[in-house]
Amino acid sequence: MSLPPYVALNENIIRETLNPEILHQLDSLQVFTEVTSTNDILWQKAQNGITGTAICLAEMQTAGRGRRGSQWMSPASGNIYLSIMRSLNSESVRNGLSIAIGIALINTLQEEGVEGLQLKWPNDVLHNRRKLAGILVESRYGSQNYVTVGIGLNLSLPDNLHTAIPQPIISLEQLCDPLPCRNRLAAKIIQNMIETLELFSHRGLSDFLPLWPQYDALHNQAINIISENGQFTALACGINEQGELRYMRDQQVAYLSNSHLSIRFAS
Ligand code: BTN
Repeated sequence: MSLPPYVALNENIIRETLNPEILHQLDSLQVFTEVTSTNDILWQKAQNGITGTAICLAEMQTAGRGRRGSQWMSPASGNIYLSIMRSLNSESVRNGLSIAIGIALINTLQEEGVEGLQLKWPNDVLHNRRKLAGILVESRYGSQNYVTVGIGLNLSLPDNLHTAIPQPIISLEQLCDPLPCRNRLAAKIIQNMIETLELFSHRGLSDFLPLWPQYDALHNQAINIISENGQFTALACGINEQGELRYMRDQQVAYLSNSHLSIRFAS
């Protein structure tokens, strides 16, 4: 039997790389060979109640999901499929959190030497308009309010995925040589995500808003806003305090929340 051409995820290495203070906050950290969706594993955990932060990583997902009910193809090719859940009371979770997490993810990748990354509102990490990573924020409210943030980061993509996915995609393998150590990278992402969730729980988007223009892939771009009922063209012009997309249409400013609409570059 031949070995896979990537280093397997290893819970011990990830734990050893995490800052002890962060490690102390964890309710659980689990690495699986195969799951339906790392987000779902954590939602199952929430049913029993968690006290701290719960983390789930997997080598592959059989029912990985993306925003707007889309499928997130998740083969066992050395990518990172990672979810983090914690309790969080914040009204601006829906729009704002994926922006805060996106900025944290880009910063982590920049520290690993990956340049030229931008965030396409609300949740796509792009390199030259090709998607490197996606962020899925899900929240559930009950006796305790939980949020689960899932990240799918392409490290290495099988050829068939480039044709199966209906948008330009890219992997870290195409952007850096050598690839960052997978377990160390996963630990750094976890560390920055946990710190970002904590900051966001106290201050919402306020620390991230001034940074947004330098990350904004849509800045002053003509965009198509597409819904089930049709589409229109507008000019993207930043975000507001709630993390809603600000755009100009017919000389009027309007805002878009993180809804079921999809945004495409118009040119
Ligand atoms: C998107 O761009 O639409 C978001 C994609 C999010 C994919 C990740 S992979 C880990 C986690 N588990 C899932 O089922 N989805 C997220």
